[in-house]
Amino acid sequence: MTFGGNKKKCPGFIAVAIDGPAGAGKSTVAKRLAQRLGFAFLDTGAMYRALTLKAMRLGLKLEDELALTALAQNTKIDLEDKGEGLIVSLDGEDVSQNIRTVEVTNNTFYIARVSGVRAILVRWQQEIGACRNVVAEGRDIGTVVFPRTKYKFYLDADVEERAKRRHAELTAKGKPIDFEEVLKDVRDRDHKDFTRKVGPLKKAEDAVVIDSTKMTVEEVIDTLCKHIIGETKDKMTKDKI
Ligand code: DC
Repeated sequence: MTFGGNKKKCPGFIAVAIDGPAGAGKSTVAKRLAQRLGFAFLDTGAMYRALTLKAMRLGLKLEDELALTALAQNTKIDLEDKGEGLIVSLDGEDVSQNIRTVEVTNNTFYIARVSGVRAILVRWQQEIGACRNVVAEGRDIGTVVFPRTKYKFYLDADVEERAKRRHAELTAKGKPIDFEEVLKDVRDRDHKDFTRKVGPLKKAEDAVVIDSTKMTVEEVIDTLCKHIIGETKDKMTKDKI
């Protein structure tokens, strides 16, 4: 499934919104929930990352908000969910791996705080959700992107647990790193996400909070499914979920 550039509006589609801090497990959960529901998986962080990569490659000043907004206006980002992994295309180039580097991760902060950039990316995300059922994950999905959806979740976990997961992930990838460093990094990202003036990480008032600290991925998905089935009795059959 390819997203991007589709401007057609079609009513009646469902958006499941999952917000939460870095490392709470949103991506894994959202991706697998989307598979279970037969919905598209919309990784909004990948969009901010792809634009960051382009700005870095062009050597743009990351403080230059006008230049970053113009860049967003002249960029095409596609997300293609092939089942085995999300393919992220930047102006036609597959950048799925390139957007996951430490440098890109650290620099997304500059892109994500620009209101002009956020307005453009939010519009793309809404256009994607207007034409298909989606499970979207990010920081502002329930508050800004799909504020009217009934299916809002805020996935949280203790900061130490999130750092532990990130540390295990990096170690498994053969990138040994000091745990304290990872913990500091996670705290730093939380601070940036919570204090951003535009589109900060915020729990929507009507979001269901799930603390995944002591839960497995399967348990989290089952919990989400139970809430969604409860809300969608008329729209979906239990079997489908
Ligand atoms: O979820 P992630 O780590 O891939 O997100 C990358 C960056 O993008 C992170 O700095 C937060 C930001 N982001 C955002 O501001 N709004 C979103 N909806 C998704 C991500």
